[in-house]
Amino acid sequence: MAVKVKICMGTHCTMMGNLNLQESLENLQLEYPEQIEIEAIKCLKFCKGDKAPVVELNGKIITNASAEKIVSEIIELVK
Ligand code: FES
Repeated sequence: MAVKVKICMGTHCTMMGNLNLQESLENLQLEYPEQIEIEAIKCLKFCKGDKAPVVELNGKIITNASAEKIVSEIIELVK
């Protein structure tokens, strides 16, 4: 199944780890080039109240995203 990942590149999410997360996802994408689509997007307005960093995975908003969490969810989806 193809996976669409939107990474919030707003200031808060970037500071809270989305730059590292983007790098991890780009590495993962090298392994599954056909199945993973990555898009950097502007602030989703979910970052208030300790919810950053934020990622959207196939339309589902994931708050407090970590590279480990997102990478393992994507691996489950592309299997
Ligand atoms: S900066 Fe990412 S949701 Fe606002």
